[in-house]
Amino acid sequence: MSLTRVLTGITTSGTPHLGNYVGAIRPAVATSRQAGVESFYFLADYHALIKVQDPARVQRSTLEIAASWLACGLEPDKVWFYRQSDVPEVQELNWLLTCVASKGILNRAHAYKASVDKNREIGEDDDAGVNAGLFMYPVLMAADILLFNANKVPVGRDQVQHIEMARDFGQRFNHLYGEPVGEEFFALPEAVIEENVATLPGLDGRKMSKSYDNTIALFAARDTLKKLIYSIVTDSRAPGEAKDADTSNVFQLYQAFASAQETTAMRQAFADGIGWGEAKQALFERIDSEVAPLREKYEDLMARPAEIEAVLRDGASRLRARYAQPTLARLREAVGLRDLSRTSDGGTKKALKTSLPVFKQYREKDGRFYFKLVDGERLLLQSAGHESARTAGQLIGRLKQEGGAALHGAGNAAVHLGDELVGHLHDGVELAEVVEALAQMVAEDA
Ligand code: TRP
Repeated sequence: MSLTRVLTGITTSGTPHLGNYVGAIRPAVATSRQAGVESFYFLADYHALIKVQDPARVQRSTLEIAASWLACGLEPDKVWFYRQSDVPEVQELNWLLTCVASKGILNRAHAYKASVDKNREIGEDDDAGVNAGLFMYPVLMAADILLFNANKVPVGRDQVQHIEMARDFGQRFNHLYGEPVGEEFFALPEAVIEENVATLPGLDGRKMSKSYDNTIALFAARDTLKKLIYSIVTDSRAPGEAKDADTSNVFQLYQAFASAQETTAMRQAFADGIGWGEAKQALFERIDSEVAPLREKYEDLMARPAEIEAVLRDGASRLRARYAQPTLARLREAVGLRDLSRTSDGGTKKALKTSLPVFKQYREKDGRFYFKLVDGERLLLQSAGHESARTAGQLIGRLKQEGGAALHGAGNAAVHLGDELVGHLHDGVELAEVVEALAQMVAEDA
């Protein structure tokens, strides 16, 4: 059974917060331990440059995110863990995809359109302040995904459109360069939205997000964590007054860290009028008990950045050798970035394909008449023996006329036309190949 490839990128533009932990890091580490999955997690530092043009911040964020994922249990010898910019094949594929992506589709990307809409609102030029990186963002993301033929891409809802675009670019490439040579270069990815992973509320009750500046850093020191949790906005109900768990940020945060049993007990405590101070204290203790051991590992890792650097480089270098470089070699060939010394012999399947499959008739030492169907170098079908060249020729005529659709196999590689035995498939050949070869011959005759 082949493994399902799960891939996701983390833009290196900030410090990981509790929302990232609950929404991405924790579920990803769990998925990476499942059987049947090959996981790819990478630091999307090229993507970061679109928004963050402060080099120290890009570097800092890259280090913090790498240390966070490792501290939370990602095992770099069991998953592919790498930095996007350590894999130059991403950029090479980025260009190949840029040249098949339609500009119109990029005009409709949400992130770009949002900028345009904002500009229109304030009466600015559509593209004021928009860098071309923002416009091309979905193509770079498609390169990340398609380079490794990822099947599943866990993302937030805001990224679903980008996965659809990756499918579109991959499909176009397959159609343009793959179909003529009978190859499929790219698997088409699917977005995975974790339905039962909570979206955490931030300090002000809106979704926890660095764009709202309402986050709680995942590895804030214990006393900072406490202070931040105590600053969560609540209503003014006094201790003793019943509180609604479902509309409470404090409760939602608690639920994301607690067991089902603990959650039920807290819900009851809310109904019974637990005071906000007490609820926040319980929340703080609950989060800290999960995070404290990870925080210790994180601090340890942050003190040894050279080791993190080595882990990332090692991941990228193995990944390049295993997948990225061979894939790019095929893709370069596919689009025509080729070794010139190989033009004379055709060099590619497509060139070889200019010769159609043919029937070859001959007589064997047993005195009987035979034919075979060959496609280039490849023997597809070997006929049964015939008394005369004429009956052999007539059967060829019928095959050409009736085509592959009338053929049927008998399991033991024997091929029949109606009830007449035509012959046998050569070792390793599928009936479908013969059908396809006949279809090509018919198409050529028409
Ligand atoms: N754009 C993604 C985000 O901001 C990050 C990302 C970059 C990504 N490349 C990717 C996610 C490829 C999934 C697959 O969340």
